[in-house]
This record gives sequence, structure tokens and C-alpha cells, in this order.
Amino acid sequence: MAYPYQIRSLEEYQQQYQQSVMDPEGFWANVADHFYWRRKWDKVLEWNFKEPDVKWFVGGKLNITENCLDRHLGTLGNTPAIIWEPNDPEERHRVITYRDLYNKVCQFANVLKNNGVKKGDRVCIYMGMIPELAIAVLACARIGAVHSVVFGGFSAQSIADRIQDAQASLVITCDGAFRGNKDIPLKSVIDDALIACPSVKKVIVCTRTRTPVSMIKGRDLWWEDEIKQVETMGNPPCPAEEMDAEDMLFILYTSGSTGKPKGVVHTTAGYMVYANYTFVNTFQYQPGEVYFCTADVGWITGHSYIIYGPLSAGATTVMFEGVPTWPDAGRLWSITDKFRVNTLYTAPTAIRSLMGYGLGPVNHKDLSSLKKLGSVGEPINEEAWHWFKDNIGKGRCPIVDTWWQTETGGIMITPIAGITPEKPGYATLPLPGVQPILVDERGQEITGNNVNGNLCIKFPWPGMLRTTYGDHERCRTTYFATYDNLYFTGDGCLRDEDGYYRITGRVDDVLNVSGHRIGTAEVENAINMHAGVVESAVVGYPHDIKGQGIYAFVIAEKMVHDPELSKKDILQTVSRIIGPIAKPDKIQFVSGLPKTRSGKIMRRILRKIAEGEMENLGDTSTLLDPNVVDEIKKGKQ
Ligand code: PRX
Repeated sequence: MAYPYQIRSLEEYQQQYQQSVMDPEGFWANVADHFYWRRKWDKVLEWNFKEPDVKWFVGGKLNITENCLDRHLGTLGNTPAIIWEPNDPEERHRVITYRDLYNKVCQFANVLKNNGVKKGDRVCIYMGMIPELAIAVLACARIGAVHSVVFGGFSAQSIADRIQDAQASLVITCDGAFRGNKDIPLKSVIDDALIACPSVKKVIVCTRTRTPVSMIKGRDLWWEDEIKQVETMGNPPCPAEEMDAEDMLFILYTSGSTGKPKGVVHTTAGYMVYANYTFVNTFQYQPGEVYFCTADVGWITGHSYIIYGPLSAGATTVMFEGVPTWPDAGRLWSITDKFRVNTLYTAPTAIRSLMGYGLGPVNHKDLSSLKKLGSVGEPINEEAWHWFKDNIGKGRCPIVDTWWQTETGGIMITPIAGITPEKPGYATLPLPGVQPILVDERGQEITGNNVNGNLCIKFPWPGMLRTTYGDHERCRTTYFATYDNLYFTGDGCLRDEDGYYRITGRVDDVLNVSGHRIGTAEVENAINMHAGVVESAVVGYPHDIKGQGIYAFVIAEKMVHDPELSKKDILQTVSRIIGPIAKPDKIQFVSGLPKTRSGKIMRRILRKIAEGEMENLGDTSTLLDPNVVDEIKKGKQ
């Protein structure tokens, strides 16, 4: 059997789950045994959630790329590792076998070494969805450099913040990126970012769009020229750096309830074992299948389920450069048809937006290869779930609604494809090794079924975050201090009469816009940067396609003469400071915000108004100026 730890039935799920709770160390040691270690661990787990201090596979030595590449060469050398579909359907796709990928990763790893990158150095990657992005990520891992991938939709300011926080010494980017009918000038954004980043000594630029770029002497290098140099050296091999199980693998920045994104840190062995185990089990991957995840590598889903999970399992992973709606809304179905995709893993926001185009783009696409469907990133509404099930899965494919987070490294609560009985809108049951618990505001456990609470995890799992880069205290206060001895997810959750879990959304000031996590404080900070703005308050509201939309209440310095123009200016400012993904959908100018006497903004009231719920605003008598509420209500109507 390809994956001896693959669950084959509901009984096996229950057995594995039981074992993982009774003997977590034995359970994970069994899984970890099926990887390639330079040296096996001395101890499976050491932990406390107080500091927190969590170590998996203590004393183990390995390199994740030996597990993703070298160990497959004998059996899978000629098997496609990555099938790449370009943005423009007229351009040729690329098939990269495991041997090709191995060679390219070693080559680029040598480029990094030639440019002075060493184990432990941080490398920022800001690229479009081309195979070179996966190659860059793996090349970092090969030599033990820590990658920090930044999504191509972030602004220069956001990149600069992330580079400074990580003190990255090298940046890998492209001249530009194609996304739908857009051409995003990545290198020029990097140039703006680097004005404020003295830590960066070198920039490697991969050619993609042929957009004119300015190359700075002594700093900027072409990817292709650097590869040629390695070729002239006779393409020497690049032995993998021996990494400790707990050596840092990557940093990925994500938003929280404060203004500043935090660098979630994942380490080598635990992350690898967890990404692989959850990939193989959730999607019930079988050798030879073609698997397609539509996420961007700029997010955790791309890290775990385009790159590390599938490649460590020797799977064939499809990487798509473009967007689902270009050149038409049938693009995902065309790709499925073209590569005979067996598993399609996408986001509710994509499904909802494609639903809007009706069945025209689906008809005449051969989707008979599909066996399994997946959803991630936000709660999936029943309508979207059924549309996906009926029209894409033709009623015969199970859907896995996978709940997890950047911080969890991999899937936590999910059906196992074809094994767990499914229920629309429910992430259903925890995977083996995951011990969820619901608590009330005071941290008391809520037992039994048919209950609602805050979702926490009470025992470590190998893929969990270890720290937030450069600020361990922040990791403690954000995740481990709300409730004693528990990891707090920030999500609200329901456990129904069958013990199935349904995630109801964030209970903190974090928005989920099209599956992207955005802090309200971050957006407020950006709006407040605009010269004419005195103060702002941002809340989420239900949005048909995005799941949540961003609603901003803004106090302007002077009377706003041309509200439309002022709104455009504010949007421009948010784009500049964070990126287009954080642009508010609605802006309302107000003369005051509902505040308590101590100056705290009553977001609950603003949320209700944004949702259009004008009655039942609750007690407003504690407000400094209750009249402000009426004025805001009027302005909204
Ligand atoms: O609120 C949950 C929501 O997305 C948050 C995590 O966001 P991020 O770290 O960006 O990772 C997204 C991809 C894993 C969670 O706290 N979320 C994620 N998956 C689901 C979900 N909400 C409901 N159902 C899901 N399947």
C-alpha cells in the first residue's frame, strides 16, 4: 500500500482517532516512520501550552525536500510532479516530472548559495503562480533558508513591513504576473518596497511578462542568468542541508485583531508529517491521481496543499496561474477536463461567483474524471455546497469541507472523502490527532451535543505554529492566553446532535473576505492614513459572493463636498497601504462613531447597521452620544 497510514473505512477512522487520543506519541511515530530521516527522533513530543513550547520529533534530522523529491526519484522520476496551466489558455502548459523538479530545485538552490544565502537566512518570495515559485520555495528548503512568501496582491508597504519584520536578505520576484486580463508589475512593486528595506542585499528576478523593469546594479539579478552560471559550473549537485526537526521551515504572515500582521512560524518535521498525513487522508489520494488545488501559494493552502502535502506524497499537483473567470467562467472546468483532474479543491467564494454565471460554462465540459471535491477558507453556504455537489460533482463526488488555519499548518476538522457521512455546511469531524473543545466566555468546557461555543484545541498536533516570528509573547497572548492550557482558534463553532462541527465564523475582529483574512484594525489604520480622515471604524457584513464585505464608517476632517471622489481617494489609500484585497466595499461618512464613555467604539452596533438591521440595536444608553446612532442609521438608508 502506498500510504500505510491511509484510513480506509469509518471503522478505521474511529480506531485511528481513538489511538491518537490514547497514545498520541505512538500514533504520530507510526506515521512519521514512513518518511526519510537522516536521523530518527529521540522523543516524539515535548510540550506545554503555557509559554507555549511545543517540540515534535525531538532530535530528529531531515530535509523536507529529500522527502518531497529525492525519495521519489527511483519510482516516480518520470511521473508528473507539477502540471502547470498558464493564465492564457492559448499558451502551452508545462509538465514537470519529479526528476525535472529535483534538477531545477537543486539548480536554483545553487543559485541561492552562489548569492550568499545560508541556512537560517530569510528569503522573501513575491511571485506569480508559475512553476518557478514552487522551485524557489523548495530551493530555500533545500539549503535550510526560511521562506516567507508574500501574496502577489499585497502592496509595496505590506511587503516592506514583512521584509523588515523577517529581516530578509534576499528577495525572489518576477518582472510581472499575469492574472486574468491584468498584468501585475511585481518587480516595480518590489522596487518601491525595498526603499525601506536595508536588510535586502540581492533581488533575483524571473522573467514572465516581459514588462520593462529597472535592474539596480549590484543588487538585482536575472533568474535566467544565474541559472546559466550554475550550468557553466557543470550543474553540480546540491546536497540537502541537514535540518533539525524543529528548525524553522517558513514564515507566513497573517492578519489578526491588531493592526500588524504576524509572522506565523512553522518548523520542519512536524509540518511535513502533518501536511502529508492530512493530504493523503482527507482527499484519499491514490497514486496516479491528478489533484488540483486552486489556491495561491501566497496563502497557507498553497503551501500545504499545492506544494508540501502533495509532493511529499509523490502526487501530481496542478498549479494554475490565472483566475476562475478568465477568459470565461468555465476555466476551472476546462482545466479539469484538459488534465482529467480527479480531485478539485477550491474556495466557497469561487463557487459562489461561478454559480452566478449559470450552467452555460459547465455544459459540454467533460467532468467525468472528478472523484472528489474540496472546499476551504470560509464557511460554505448550503446553496453553494449543493451547486458544487450537483453540477460539478454530478452528485457522485464527496465534498470535503476542510476547516483549518494558517496557524494549524494543515487541515483539522473535515470529512474524509467518501468515508465520513457528509452534511452540507459542516466540517464534520476532527482528523485523528486533533482534539477540539468548545468553551464559553470564561473558558469552561461546553460538553454534550447541540451546543455552541468558542473553538479551542486542547492537545498539540505536529503541524501547529511554534511561534510568531521575532515576538514569542505575541504568540502566547494571541493563541494561548485567552483560555488556560488551550489553543484558541478565534472561531465560533457549533456541535450538533451527531457531534458534527460547524464553524460559524470569527469571534474576534478579523474579517474573512473571499477567504482572505483581514483585520479590521489593519483596514482602519490604512484608512486613517488618508489626509482627510479623522477616524474610522470597520466592520464586516454578509456579502453574496465574498462571504463578508468590508463596511467602513469614516469621519472626515471637513465637510465632504464630493463623497464619490473622497471614497475613491480612500480606496486608493487602502490599496497603497495594504493591497486591493482590503478595499472597503462600502464607505459611509459620519460625523461621529458610537462610543462608550470610556471611548471604546461599540462595533456591535455598527455591525448591525452594516447588516441592515436597524432595529434591536440593543442597549445604547451607555453611549457617550446616543444621537450619533440615529444619524448613522439615517445615512445608511
Ligand atoms: O474562520 C476560519 C476560516 O478561515 C480562518 C483561517 O484563515 P486562514 O488562516 O487565512 O486560512 C485559510 C485557509 C486554511 C479560520 O479561522 N475558515 C477556514 N476554513 C474554513 C473556515 N471557516 C469555515 N469553514 C471552513 N472550512
